[in-house]
Amino acid sequence: MSRKIMISLAALIMMMTISSCGGGNNAENEKPKQKRVLVAYFSATGKTKKVAEDIARISGGDLHEIVPAKPYSAADLDWTDEKSRSYVEMHESDSLPETTDSVVDISSYDVIFIGYPIWWEQAPRVINSFIDKQELGKRYVIPFATSNGSQIGESVDSLKSQYPGIYWDSGKLLNSASDAGLIKWMKGFGIKR
Ligand SMILES: Cc1cc2nc3c(=O)[nH]c(=O)nc-3n(C[C@H](O)[C@H](O)[C@H](O)COP(=O)(O)O)c2cc1C
Repeated sequence: MSRKIMISLAALIMMMTISSCGGGNNAENEKPKQKRVLVAYFSATGKTKKVAEDIARISGGDLHEIVPAKPYSAADLDWTDEKSRSYVEMHESDSLPETTDSVVDISSYDVIFIGYPIWWEQAPRVINSFIDKQELGKRYVIPFATSNGSQIGESVDSLKSQYPGIYWDSGKLLNSASDAGLIKWMKGFGIKR
């Protein structure tokens, strides 16, 4: 190889090295991609709704309310009455109350939260209606709940056994969540704001 060709080759290699270093700097300057967050929730009396709104506000996510076709009246929610709608629904394992909210394009989200009030230690059956309607496939789902004192664990165990194809996070009971607490929790899922 002539001296001239060797010098040209060396110059070419140097130029390629410099341009690839430049590319690296650009990549470093790029902002990390924000996670697209879905916050689906059902709330009969507003407590879970408030938490869902907080999660959506902090994460910049989309709120999706799970809406029963027939709203729950105060009588429907009377857990002391074995004939009340909620009691009957929750004690019939196959009940699937109709819902009117639209199907969500799940594929357009990176992180999916599902929130609900605890009813007899469980997620209300409209949560099953929602899951059955959506194409959640093998997605990772993060449950959250509010309650009058029950923990979330039993409801998540049930969801896990009813929908073994979904990857269920252990979830969180959010009865008294501050913004700081929510931000810290969500950081664990790569959500940064
Ligand atoms: C039908 C029914 C059953 C409930 N069962 C429980 C329960 O097992 N444990 C509990 O701690 N709270 C229970 N609660 C209380 C709710 O979980 C609590 O008030 C919740 O925060 C309401 O959320 P929401 O306002 O979003 O509907 C029940 C409430 C209703 C209406």
